[in-house]
Amino acid sequence: MKHRQVRINRVGIINPDGHVIGLDIGATAVRASILAAGTLDGRPSVTVHGIGQVELASGVVVKGEVREPDALTAALRQLWTAHKFECRNVILGVANPQVLVRDLSVPNIDPGRRAKALPFQAKEVIALPIEEVVLDFSPLETSADGETLHGLLIAAPRKPLLAMVHAVEQAKLRVARVDLASFGILRAIGGEQLTVEAVVDLGAHMTTIVIHDHGVPRLVRTLARGGDDLTANLAERLNIEVLEAETLKRQSGLDGANPEANRALAESLRPLLAEIRTSIGYFRSSRNTAPIERISLTGGGANLSGLTQVMTDQTGLPAAVVDPLQHVRNRLASKEVRGAQFEGAPSAVALGLAMGAAA
Ligand SMILES: Nc1ncnc2c1ncn2[C@@H]1O[C@H](COP(=O)(O)OP(=O)(O)OP(=O)(O)O)[C@@H](O)[C@H]1O
Ligand SMILES: [Mg+2]
Repeated sequence: MKHRQVRINRVGIINPDGHVIGLDIGATAVRASILAAGTLDGRPSVTVHGIGQVELASGVVVKGEVREPDALTAALRQLWTAHKFECRNVILGVANPQVLVRDLSVPNIDPGRRAKALPFQAKEVIALPIEEVVLDFSPLETSADGETLHGLLIAAPRKPLLAMVHAVEQAKLRVARVDLASFGILRAIGGEQLTVEAVVDLGAHMTTIVIHDHGVPRLVRTLARGGDDLTANLAERLNIEVLEAETLKRQSGLDGANPEANRALAESLRPLLAEIRTSIGYFRSSRNTAPIERISLTGGGANLSGLTQVMTDQTGLPAAVVDPLQHVRNRLASKEVRGAQFEGAPSAVALGLAMGAAA
């Protein structure tokens, strides 16, 4: 999502002190990661210089869209003040179940002419009116004869995206670039040494799936289901308050001591697992690639006890929760980042957004 109109993309991605900031606006929190590029043993590497998060009240951001912009702006101001972040140019992650990412092949012409032709090519592929979306093309590879560029067409609904940018700018931050949250997730946790891997971010309202081949995204889907659906179902089934259900969900998981809770959680997980299986099945049937080697999980919902086992049982693939900090060097004391008191748990989205520009 690099070429944007007027208001966006008017400032430098790299801040004056060399730092790059990734900003993830989720349903439960706003999270920022500050990275700097460097070298380690003569090879490029990125280092974390700051991580922080501020919780959002329920209803401020719903399924990737801002419902209460003033509350979002206030949380962002608080995030910058509390962590004494000095730089203000950010890369904003966009995640929304209505964002479409589809294969597209276009003539291999210069980027300026390609951008002009994109709306005409997109019309063939997407159902939404072209004036209601922001379009981008992410090139992946060139055909053998050099004439065609294969890549991904990205179409994000314009209005919610601009509303999000506006709320961020009200906090005196500058949106230097908008990028797909799913690309951030892939950069932060995708194992590029692996042939094919499914990376799954389980959020509160949304679940994002990226299947990649040596780090190149081949399938990107955002599902409108997440951990909060499990909590809501648990509250209804056991006739308890949502807050109580949230605590019980975290304590019990799918394999805890409360069989009623285990059953209710397993039941509400089923549609989400079915959608993940459908995406994996679609990928397998539409691409003639090597088999998927593993599923790597991130996001708050990945902490559900027993989930990795169920995921493995349901897909036949090894599944594991992955540390978003695995590919970055950490300038902060490790206890500061990982300690229970540190309320700035890193998000794969925020880290990966910054990694894209810092690397
Ligand atoms: N220990 C746990 N067990 C089960 N679920 C958990 C646990 N910890 C957090 N969650 C769930 O993770 C979800 C929040 O995840 P995350 O912080 O990644 O979401 P978000 O990025 O704010 O939301 P979204 O990406 O959907 O906008 C909530 O539904 C929460 O209940
Ligand atoms: Mg999220």
